[in-house]
Amino acid sequence: MSDSGDSAPIDEVPPRTMISRVTKPGAHGSQSGWPEHPISAIIAGTGSHVPERVLTNADLEKMVDTSDQWITERTGMKERHISTDGEAASDIALIACQKALAEAGVKPEELDLIIVGTVTGDMPFPSTACVLQQRLGAPQATAFDISAGCTGFIYALSVARQFIITGTCKTALVVGVELLSKITDWTDRSTCVLFGDGSGAAVLKADPKPNTGILASYLAADGTGGQYLYMPAGGSRHPASVETVQQRMHTCKMHGNAIFKVAVRSMASAFRHLLRQTNLEPDDVKLLIPHQANLRIIEATAKLLKFPPERVFINIAKYGNTSSATTIIALDEARKDGRVLPGDVVMLVAFGAGLTWGGVAIRF
Ligand code: UT7
Repeated sequence: MSDSGDSAPIDEVPPRTMISRVTKPGAHGSQSGWPEHPISAIIAGTGSHVPERVLTNADLEKMVDTSDQWITERTGMKERHISTDGEAASDIALIACQKALAEAGVKPEELDLIIVGTVTGDMPFPSTACVLQQRLGAPQATAFDISAGCTGFIYALSVARQFIITGTCKTALVVGVELLSKITDWTDRSTCVLFGDGSGAAVLKADPKPNTGILASYLAADGTGGQYLYMPAGGSRHPASVETVQQRMHTCKMHGNAIFKVAVRSMASAFRHLLRQTNLEPDDVKLLIPHQANLRIIEATAKLLKFPPERVFINIAKYGNTSSATTIIALDEARKDGRVLPGDVVMLVAFGAGLTWGGVAIRF
Protein backbone atom coordinates (compact mmCIF):
# COMPACT_ATOMS: atom_id res chain seq x y z
CA MET A 1 0.00 0.00 0.00
CA SER A 2 2.95 2.28 0.56
CA ASP A 3 3.66 2.16 -3.19
CA SER A 4 0.15 3.17 -4.07
CA GLY A 5 0.65 6.92 -3.65
CA ASP A 6 -0.51 9.09 -0.80
CA SER A 7 -3.54 10.44 -2.55
CA ALA A 8 -4.94 7.17 -3.97
CA PRO A 9 -8.18 6.16 -2.30
CA ILE A 10 -7.72 2.80 -0.69
CA ASP A 11 -10.59 1.39 -2.79
CA GLU A 12 -8.37 1.91 -5.80
CA VAL A 13 -5.36 0.07 -4.41
CA PRO A 14 -4.64 -2.80 -6.82
CA PRO A 15 -6.07 -6.11 -5.58
CA ARG A 16 -2.60 -7.70 -5.42
CA THR A 17 -1.89 -5.55 -2.33
CA MET A 18 -5.02 -6.82 -0.60
CA ILE A 19 -3.67 -9.79 1.27
CA SER A 20 -7.10 -10.52 2.62
CA ARG A 21 -10.35 -8.78 2.15
CA VAL A 22 -13.55 -10.15 3.57
CA THR A 23 -16.73 -8.34 2.73
CA LYS A 24 -19.50 -10.34 4.24
CA PRO A 25 -23.14 -10.03 3.34
CA GLY A 26 -24.85 -8.12 6.03
CA ALA A 27 -27.64 -5.87 4.89
CA HIS A 28 -31.13 -7.21 5.30
CA GLY A 29 -33.40 -6.75 2.36
CA SER A 30 -33.09 -7.53 -1.31
CA GLN A 31 -32.26 -3.95 -2.33
CA SER A 32 -28.78 -4.35 -0.91
CA GLY A 33 -28.02 -7.21 -3.29
CA TRP A 34 -26.93 -9.33 -0.33
CA PRO A 35 -28.83 -12.36 0.89
CA GLU A 36 -31.33 -11.74 3.63
CA HIS A 37 -30.45 -13.21 7.03
CA PRO A 38 -33.29 -14.70 9.01
CA ILE A 39 -31.50 -13.89 12.27
CA SER A 40 -30.07 -10.54 13.38
CA ALA A 41 -27.21 -10.00 15.82
CA ILE A 42 -28.23 -7.19 18.14
CA ILE A 43 -26.19 -5.35 20.74
CA ALA A 44 -28.02 -5.97 24.00
CA GLY A 45 -25.56 -4.23 26.32
CA THR A 46 -22.24 -2.41 26.42
CA GLY A 47 -19.75 -1.58 29.15
CA SER A 48 -16.35 0.01 29.47
CA HIS A 49 -13.66 0.47 32.06
CA VAL A 50 -10.31 2.26 32.29
CA PRO A 51 -7.64 2.04 34.99
CA GLU A 52 -7.80 4.66 37.74
CA ARG A 53 -4.39 6.25 37.29
CA VAL A 54 -4.36 9.27 34.96
CA LEU A 55 -1.25 10.40 33.07
CA THR A 56 -1.53 13.97 31.83
CA ASN A 57 0.44 15.81 29.18
CA ALA A 58 2.08 17.72 32.04
CA ASP A 59 3.25 14.38 33.51
CA LEU A 60 4.71 13.41 30.13
CA GLU A 61 6.60 16.72 29.95
CA LYS A 62 8.59 15.50 32.97
CA MET A 63 9.36 12.13 31.36
CA VAL A 64 10.45 12.96 27.79
CA ASP A 65 11.28 16.02 25.67
CA THR A 66 7.72 16.99 24.80
CA SER A 67 5.13 19.64 25.61
CA ASP A 68 1.43 19.87 26.31
CA GLN A 69 1.20 22.19 23.30
CA TRP A 70 2.83 19.68 20.90
CA ILE A 71 0.71 16.75 22.11
CA THR A 72 -2.52 18.78 22.04
CA GLU A 73 -1.93 20.32 18.62
CA ARG A 74 -0.61 17.15 16.93
CA THR A 75 -2.90 14.56 18.52
CA GLY A 76 -5.80 16.18 20.44
CA MET A 77 -4.84 14.18 23.54
CA LYS A 78 -4.80 15.73 27.01
CA GLU A 79 -4.66 12.69 29.31
CA ARG A 80 -4.78 8.91 29.27
CA HIS A 81 -5.34 6.15 31.86
CA ILE A 82 -2.44 3.87 32.71
CA SER A 83 -2.64 0.52 34.52
CA THR A 84 -0.57 -0.33 37.58
CA ASP A 85 2.30 -2.84 37.52
CA GLY A 86 0.12 -5.68 38.75
CA GLU A 87 -2.88 -4.97 36.50
CA ALA A 88 -3.42 -7.19 33.44
CA ALA A 89 -5.80 -7.05 30.48
CA SER A 90 -8.32 -9.43 32.03
CA ASP A 91 -8.50 -7.30 35.20
CA ILE A 92 -9.61 -4.26 33.20
CA ALA A 93 -11.77 -6.22 30.78
CA LEU A 94 -13.58 -8.14 33.51
CA ILE A 95 -15.23 -4.96 34.81
CA ALA A 96 -16.27 -3.84 31.31
CA CYS A 97 -17.74 -7.32 30.68
CA GLN A 98 -19.68 -7.32 33.93
CA LYS A 99 -21.19 -3.91 33.08
CA ALA A 100 -22.17 -5.07 29.58
CA LEU A 101 -23.71 -8.30 30.89
CA ALA A 102 -25.65 -6.40 33.57
CA GLU A 103 -27.10 -3.99 31.02
CA ALA A 104 -28.03 -6.86 28.70
CA GLY A 105 -29.57 -8.85 31.56
CA VAL A 106 -27.46 -11.82 30.52
CA LYS A 107 -25.85 -14.22 33.02
CA PRO A 108 -22.29 -15.38 32.25
CA GLU A 109 -23.45 -19.00 32.12
CA GLU A 110 -25.74 -18.08 29.19
CA LEU A 111 -22.79 -17.10 26.99
CA ASP A 112 -22.01 -19.35 24.01
CA LEU A 113 -19.03 -17.38 22.80
CA ILE A 114 -16.37 -14.95 24.07
CA ILE A 115 -14.07 -13.17 21.61
CA VAL A 116 -11.40 -10.73 22.73
CA GLY A 117 -9.65 -8.34 20.36
CA THR A 118 -6.25 -7.60 21.87
CA VAL A 119 -2.50 -7.56 21.27
CA THR A 120 -1.71 -7.06 24.97
CA GLY A 121 -3.48 -9.99 26.57
CA ASP A 122 -2.54 -11.29 30.01
CA MET A 123 0.10 -13.56 28.39
CA PRO A 124 0.76 -15.09 24.93
CA PHE A 125 -1.32 -18.11 25.92
CA PRO A 126 -3.82 -19.11 27.12
CA SER A 127 -5.99 -16.54 25.43
CA THR A 128 -7.42 -13.67 27.45
CA ALA A 129 -10.84 -14.87 26.28
CA CYS A 130 -10.21 -18.16 28.13
CA VAL A 131 -9.02 -16.26 31.21
CA LEU A 132 -12.24 -14.20 31.10
CA GLN A 133 -14.36 -17.31 30.55
CA GLN A 134 -12.99 -18.72 33.81
CA ARG A 135 -13.17 -15.43 35.74
CA LEU A 136 -16.71 -14.60 34.59
CA GLY A 137 -17.97 -18.14 35.13
CA ALA A 138 -19.08 -18.89 31.56
CA PRO A 139 -18.28 -22.61 31.18
CA GLN A 140 -20.41 -23.08 28.02
CA ALA A 141 -18.63 -20.40 26.03
CA THR A 142 -16.19 -21.06 23.21
CA ALA A 143 -13.39 -18.56 23.78
CA PHE A 144 -10.58 -17.14 21.67
CA ASP A 145 -8.60 -13.95 20.99
CA ILE A 146 -8.20 -12.04 17.76
CA SER A 147 -5.04 -10.13 16.86
CA ALA A 148 -5.90 -7.27 14.51
CA GLY A 149 -4.22 -4.32 16.24
CA CYS A 150 -6.51 -1.37 16.73
CA THR A 151 -9.12 -2.98 14.45
CA GLY A 152 -9.35 -5.85 16.96
CA PHE A 153 -12.77 -5.01 18.35
CA ILE A 154 -14.30 -4.59 14.89
CA TYR A 155 -12.79 -7.88 13.72
CA ALA A 156 -14.06 -9.60 16.89
CA LEU A 157 -17.54 -8.10 16.53
CA SER A 158 -17.74 -9.15 12.89
CA VAL A 159 -16.71 -12.72 13.69
CA ALA A 160 -19.20 -12.95 16.56
CA ARG A 161 -21.92 -11.65 14.25
CA GLN A 162 -21.17 -14.46 11.80
CA PHE A 163 -21.62 -17.04 14.57
CA ILE A 164 -24.99 -15.52 15.42
CA ILE A 165 -26.51 -14.93 11.98
CA THR A 166 -25.55 -18.45 10.89
CA GLY A 167 -27.38 -19.82 13.93
CA THR A 168 -24.18 -21.27 15.45
CA CYS A 169 -24.65 -19.42 18.73
CA LYS A 170 -27.23 -17.23 20.43
CA THR A 171 -25.34 -15.06 22.91
CA ALA A 172 -21.82 -13.69 22.59
CA LEU A 173 -19.54 -11.41 24.54
CA VAL A 174 -17.15 -9.31 22.45
CA VAL A 175 -14.31 -7.44 24.12
CA GLY A 176 -11.73 -4.87 23.07
CA VAL A 177 -9.00 -4.50 25.67
CA GLU A 178 -5.52 -3.06 25.47
CA LEU A 179 -2.81 -2.23 27.98
CA LEU A 180 -0.46 -0.61 25.51
CA SER A 181 1.40 1.04 28.40
CA LYS A 182 2.95 -2.40 29.03
CA ILE A 183 4.61 -2.47 25.58
CA THR A 184 5.41 1.25 25.31
CA ASP A 185 8.97 2.51 25.16
CA TRP A 186 8.70 5.26 27.75
CA THR A 187 11.90 6.87 26.44
CA ASP A 188 10.50 7.28 22.89
CA ARG A 189 8.57 10.54 22.71
CA SER A 190 7.21 9.72 19.25
CA THR A 191 5.08 6.88 20.67
CA CYS A 192 4.82 7.16 24.46
CA VAL A 193 2.60 10.25 24.41
CA LEU A 194 -0.01 8.50 22.27
CA PHE A 195 -1.15 5.42 24.10
CA GLY A 196 -3.48 4.68 27.00
CA ASP A 197 -5.05 1.60 28.60
CA GLY A 198 -8.71 0.65 28.58
CA SER A 199 -11.40 -1.84 27.79
CA GLY A 200 -14.91 -2.13 26.43
CA ALA A 201 -17.34 -4.99 25.92
CA ALA A 202 -20.57 -5.67 24.04
CA VAL A 203 -23.12 -8.44 24.51
CA LEU A 204 -24.56 -9.73 21.24
CA LYS A 205 -27.81 -11.64 21.08
CA ALA A 206 -29.65 -13.42 18.31
CA ASP A 207 -32.88 -11.64 17.36
CA PRO A 208 -35.55 -12.84 14.93
CA LYS A 209 -36.33 -9.26 13.81
CA PRO A 210 -34.78 -8.43 10.43
CA ASN A 211 -32.94 -5.22 9.57
CA THR A 212 -31.68 -4.55 13.07
CA GLY A 213 -28.47 -4.93 15.08
CA ILE A 214 -25.28 -5.33 13.09
CA LEU A 215 -26.43 -4.60 9.53
CA ALA A 216 -23.08 -5.01 7.80
CA SER A 217 -19.42 -5.52 8.42
CA TYR A 218 -16.36 -4.92 6.31
CA LEU A 219 -12.89 -6.26 7.11
CA ALA A 220 -9.66 -5.76 5.21
CA ALA A 221 -5.95 -6.32 5.62
CA ASP A 222 -2.67 -5.53 3.89
CA GLY A 223 0.33 -7.36 5.31
CA THR A 224 2.75 -5.31 3.21
CA GLY A 225 2.18 -2.51 5.73
CA GLY A 226 3.17 -4.64 8.73
CA GLN A 227 6.51 -2.85 8.94
CA TYR A 228 4.83 0.40 9.96
CA LEU A 229 3.53 -0.78 13.33
CA TYR A 230 4.88 -3.80 15.18
CA MET A 231 6.55 -5.25 18.24
CA PRO A 232 9.69 -7.06 17.09
CA ALA A 233 10.35 -9.51 19.94
CA GLY A 234 8.52 -11.94 22.16
CA GLY A 235 7.38 -14.25 19.36
CA SER A 236 9.18 -17.05 17.51
CA ARG A 237 11.16 -14.60 15.32
CA HIS A 238 12.94 -13.04 18.29
CA PRO A 239 12.17 -14.97 21.47
CA ALA A 240 12.83 -13.11 24.71
CA SER A 241 16.53 -12.83 25.51
CA VAL A 242 18.83 -10.46 27.35
CA GLU A 243 19.58 -8.79 23.98
CA THR A 244 15.93 -8.30 23.03
CA VAL A 245 15.27 -6.67 26.38
CA GLN A 246 18.38 -4.48 26.21
CA GLN A 247 17.44 -3.35 22.69
CA ARG A 248 13.86 -2.57 23.78
CA MET A 249 12.50 -5.00 21.21
CA HIS A 250 9.52 -5.82 23.42
CA THR A 251 8.07 -2.39 22.80
CA CYS A 252 5.88 -0.96 20.07
CA LYS A 253 7.65 0.51 17.00
CA MET A 254 5.70 2.85 14.76
CA HIS A 255 6.23 4.92 11.63
CA GLY A 256 3.64 7.54 12.51
CA ASN A 257 3.63 9.45 9.23
CA ALA A 258 3.13 6.34 7.09
CA ILE A 259 0.29 5.14 9.32
CA PHE A 260 -1.36 8.56 9.33
CA LYS A 261 -1.86 8.56 5.55
CA VAL A 262 -3.20 5.01 5.44
CA ALA A 263 -5.47 5.69 8.41
CA VAL A 264 -7.54 8.39 6.73
CA ARG A 265 -7.98 6.51 3.47
CA SER A 266 -8.73 3.17 5.10
CA MET A 267 -11.38 4.46 7.51
CA ALA A 268 -13.03 6.43 4.71
CA SER A 269 -12.95 3.29 2.55
CA ALA A 270 -14.56 1.19 5.30
CA PHE A 271 -17.31 3.79 5.73
CA ARG A 272 -18.07 3.81 1.99
CA HIS A 273 -18.14 0.01 1.87
CA LEU A 274 -20.65 -0.02 4.72
CA LEU A 275 -22.85 2.52 2.94
CA ARG A 276 -22.81 0.37 -0.19
CA GLN A 277 -23.64 -2.81 1.71
CA THR A 278 -26.52 -1.25 3.61
CA ASN A 279 -27.85 1.02 0.85
CA LEU A 280 -27.76 3.86 3.33
CA GLU A 281 -26.84 7.50 2.70
CA PRO A 282 -24.47 9.43 4.99
CA ASP A 283 -27.53 11.34 6.27
CA ASP A 284 -28.95 8.05 7.55
CA VAL A 285 -25.94 7.61 9.84
CA LYS A 286 -26.62 9.20 13.23
CA LEU A 287 -23.11 8.80 14.56
CA LEU A 288 -19.74 7.92 13.10
CA ILE A 289 -17.38 6.41 15.68
CA PRO A 290 -13.86 6.31 14.28
CA HIS A 291 -10.79 4.77 15.91
CA GLN A 292 -9.34 7.37 18.30
CA ALA A 293 -5.68 7.46 17.25
CA ASN A 294 -5.27 11.14 16.44
CA LEU A 295 -7.76 14.02 16.33
CA ARG A 296 -6.25 15.16 13.02
CA ILE A 297 -6.83 11.71 11.50
CA ILE A 298 -10.46 11.79 12.65
CA GLU A 299 -11.02 15.30 11.30
CA ALA A 300 -9.33 14.49 7.99
CA THR A 301 -11.47 11.36 7.60
CA ALA A 302 -14.69 13.27 8.25
CA LYS A 303 -13.57 15.97 5.80
CA LEU A 304 -12.74 13.42 3.11
CA LEU A 305 -16.18 11.85 3.57
CA LYS A 306 -17.88 15.27 3.81
CA PHE A 307 -19.48 13.91 6.99
CA PRO A 308 -20.75 16.55 9.46
CA PRO A 309 -18.25 16.92 12.33
CA GLU A 310 -21.03 17.24 14.91
CA ARG A 311 -22.04 13.63 14.17
CA VAL A 312 -18.51 12.28 14.69
CA PHE A 313 -17.87 10.94 18.19
CA ILE A 314 -14.57 12.05 19.72
CA ASN A 315 -13.25 11.30 23.22
CA ILE A 316 -9.52 11.12 22.45
CA ALA A 317 -8.66 13.98 24.85
CA LYS A 318 -9.58 11.80 27.85
CA TYR A 319 -8.15 8.41 26.91
CA GLY A 320 -5.51 8.76 24.16
CA ASN A 321 -5.23 5.79 21.84
CA THR A 322 -6.45 2.64 23.61
CA SER A 323 -6.07 0.59 20.40
CA SER A 324 -8.70 -2.15 20.08
CA ALA A 325 -10.68 -0.59 22.93
CA THR A 326 -11.26 2.88 21.44
CA THR A 327 -14.36 2.19 19.35
CA ILE A 328 -16.19 0.17 21.99
CA ILE A 329 -15.34 2.62 24.80
CA ALA A 330 -16.65 5.39 22.52
CA LEU A 331 -19.80 3.43 21.63
CA ASP A 332 -20.50 2.76 25.29
CA GLU A 333 -20.04 6.44 26.17
CA ALA A 334 -22.17 7.58 23.25
CA ARG A 335 -24.98 5.26 24.30
CA LYS A 336 -24.77 6.28 27.97
CA ASP A 337 -24.71 9.98 26.95
CA GLY A 338 -27.95 9.54 25.02
CA ARG A 339 -26.33 10.12 21.64
CA VAL A 340 -27.64 6.78 20.34
CA LEU A 341 -31.39 6.21 20.47
CA PRO A 342 -33.50 3.24 19.38
CA GLY A 343 -33.56 3.04 15.58
CA ASP A 344 -30.36 5.06 15.14
CA VAL A 345 -27.66 3.75 12.81
CA VAL A 346 -24.10 4.01 14.09
CA MET A 347 -20.97 3.19 12.13
CA LEU A 348 -17.70 2.14 13.74
CA VAL A 349 -14.54 2.33 11.61
CA ALA A 350 -10.94 1.59 12.55
CA PHE A 351 -7.46 0.78 11.26
CA GLY A 352 -4.42 -0.69 12.93
CA ALA A 353 -1.39 -2.97 12.96
CA GLY A 354 -1.32 -5.61 10.31
CA LEU A 355 -2.20 -3.44 8.57
CA THR A 356 -5.87 -4.04 9.14
CA TRP A 357 -8.94 -1.88 8.75
CA GLY A 358 -12.67 -2.25 8.71
CA GLY A 359 -16.01 -1.19 10.07
CA VAL A 360 -19.45 -2.23 11.21
CA ALA A 361 -22.86 -0.63 10.70
CA ILE A 362 -25.24 -1.11 13.63
CA ARG A 363 -28.91 -0.23 13.98
CA PHE A 364 -29.97 0.14 17.63
O1 UT7 B 1 -3.71 3.34 16.26
C1 UT7 B 1 -2.89 3.15 15.17
C2 UT7 B 1 -1.51 3.53 15.45
N1 UT7 B 1 -1.12 4.89 15.53
C3 UT7 B 1 -1.48 5.90 14.75
O2 UT7 B 1 -2.43 5.86 14.08
C4 UT7 B 1 -0.65 7.13 14.74
C5 UT7 B 1 -0.65 7.77 13.39
N2 UT7 B 1 0.29 8.88 13.33
C6 UT7 B 1 0.14 10.00 14.02
O3 UT7 B 1 -0.82 10.18 14.75
C7 UT7 B 1 1.18 11.09 13.85
O4 UT7 B 1 2.02 10.75 12.75
C8 UT7 B 1 2.05 11.31 15.12
C9 UT7 B 1 1.19 11.94 16.23
C10 UT7 B 1 2.63 10.00 15.59
C11 UT7 B 1 3.19 12.28 14.81
O5 UT7 B 1 2.66 13.52 14.33
P1 UT7 B 1 3.28 14.18 13.03
O6 UT7 B 1 2.61 15.47 12.82
O7 UT7 B 1 3.21 13.15 11.94
O8 UT7 B 1 4.76 14.48 13.50
P2 UT7 B 1 6.13 13.95 12.88
O9 UT7 B 1 6.33 12.51 13.18
O10 UT7 B 1 6.21 14.40 11.44
O11 UT7 B 1 7.17 14.79 13.72
C12 UT7 B 1 7.21 16.21 13.63
C13 UT7 B 1 8.25 16.70 14.63
C14 UT7 B 1 9.58 15.95 14.56
O12 UT7 B 1 10.60 16.89 14.77
P3 UT7 B 1 11.44 17.50 13.53
O13 UT7 B 1 12.05 16.32 12.83
O14 UT7 B 1 10.44 18.23 12.69
O15 UT7 B 1 12.44 18.36 14.21
C15 UT7 B 1 9.52 15.01 15.71
O16 UT7 B 1 10.81 14.68 16.19
O17 UT7 B 1 7.77 16.51 15.97
C16 UT7 B 1 8.76 15.83 16.73
N3 UT7 B 1 8.09 15.02 17.74
C17 UT7 B 1 7.77 15.52 18.94
N4 UT7 B 1 7.95 16.71 19.50
C18 UT7 B 1 7.49 16.89 20.75
C19 UT7 B 1 7.69 13.74 17.65
N5 UT7 B 1 7.08 13.37 18.78
C20 UT7 B 1 7.13 14.47 19.61
C21 UT7 B 1 6.67 14.71 20.92
N6 UT7 B 1 6.86 15.93 21.43
N7 UT7 B 1 6.03 13.78 21.63
